[in-house]
Amino acid sequence: MPIPALELEASKAVSPLNGRKSGAAAPTLWSERFAQRTQRMTSSAIRELLKLTEKPDVISFAGGLPAPELFPCAEVERATEKVLRGQGQTALQYAPTEGYLPLRELLVRQMARYGIRVKPANVMITSGSQQGLDLVGKLFVNAGDHILTESPTYLGALQAWSAYQADYLTVPVDDDGLDVEKLEAQLRGGPKFLYILPNFQNPAGVTLSLERRRRLVELANHYGAPIVEDDPYGQLRYEGEHLPPLVQIDAELHGCAQQDCEFTGDVLYLSTLSKTLAPGLRIAWVVAPEAVISRLVQMKQGADLHTSTFCQMVAYEVARDGFLDRHVRKIREVYGERRNAMLGALERHFPHEVRWTKPHGGLFLWITLPSGFDSSELLKEALDKERVAFVPGASFFPRGGGERTLRLNFSYAGPEVIDEGVRRLGDVIKRKLAPSLYSQR
Ligand SMILES: Cc1ncc(COP(=O)(O)O)c(C=O)c1O
Repeated sequence: MPIPALELEASKAVSPLNGRKSGAAAPTLWSERFAQRTQRMTSSAIRELLKLTEKPDVISFAGGLPAPELFPCAEVERATEKVLRGQGQTALQYAPTEGYLPLRELLVRQMARYGIRVKPANVMITSGSQQGLDLVGKLFVNAGDHILTESPTYLGALQAWSAYQADYLTVPVDDDGLDVEKLEAQLRGGPKFLYILPNFQNPAGVTLSLERRRRLVELANHYGAPIVEDDPYGQLRYEGEHLPPLVQIDAELHGCAQQDCEFTGDVLYLSTLSKTLAPGLRIAWVVAPEAVISRLVQMKQGADLHTSTFCQMVAYEVARDGFLDRHVRKIREVYGERRNAMLGALERHFPHEVRWTKPHGGLFLWITLPSGFDSSELLKEALDKERVAFVPGASFFPRGGGERTLRLNFSYAGPEVIDEGVRRLGDVIKRKLAPSLYSQR
């Protein structure tokens, strides 16, 4: 049964009920034959509710969508023509699973600029980072294996790994990212690997401090636990200094930070062009030691043989010659303004009992409501009365909890819509707060 992706705008979500007018899906010969492992993968009431965000009068902060007006349509059009005219027969043919070499070389040069020194042989192109996560699950996860995640964490990873019957150990995050003080106790539980989002975490928007990055890598090394570092947002920083990725800190710890040193690190690194170019291209990559890449290649062959060569070649033509850098600068500017718009609107329209994170980059910020609130209940009222949507936080907690939390996206809507949506949401929250508790700022 396909799982609707909360990461997408809910209107685009795939649902078992899609295409039916109402009521339960009619049973078919297949209904009794779903694999046991799919039993945990159910559609939730929230997902059904979020489908209402497709209505034009709803302001949705629910999706994780980039701003479509920033998509480089003209550049993609030019690149498409160039690829088809010059190399059409290659672009439309089957190709090696590892991915288009010039694109992998370009990504290697890009990564070297932010501290990751690897060779093209350490890079495999995937159909989105989501596929990278799935292939990691396929390669490493046995039923009942424990994966150590932040709490909250990226829902798409849980969806990918729950299909392989993973269980989870969790460590809470605060404003400086994962709380390393609480890590050691969980590491003693013997996780298969750690799943960490150090930059502008989805969903909480927080960033792991340098000190904590070092401590995390040291502890993981000490306990012999490898790390999956998921970094879709690292380039989208709106304030503060770039921090070294875990994969770099790990290489330094192993005395291996030079270009000519073979990459044998214990950190698998994933990133994507979804947020810096366009998610519709479905181009992302995974960095791993060669021995792991060759096994991931086998996993990918079973999934899709290779990522669309045509899309890889177009992405390469668009990204080369400095365009990607210029484009990322533009995205940073626009999203930085939108983040400021949302932070300003929260100050203006939210009651002071509510707390929120102040992300230095990325696409999301995270709200904690006063005690007694349930953000799933709030969503019903917000949609019904004020036509505004968000994602309730509980789905991002692998082991339950988070009922008072919710995620807001600030990349999709412009500043005025953000202000209006936050005002509407603030009104719902204010109405729910008992008047005796509530005092207007
Ligand atoms: C943390 C994280 N990892 C992976 C992905 C998947 O990205 P892609 O579009 O490359 O599949 C997302 C998408 O929002 C994400 O937030």
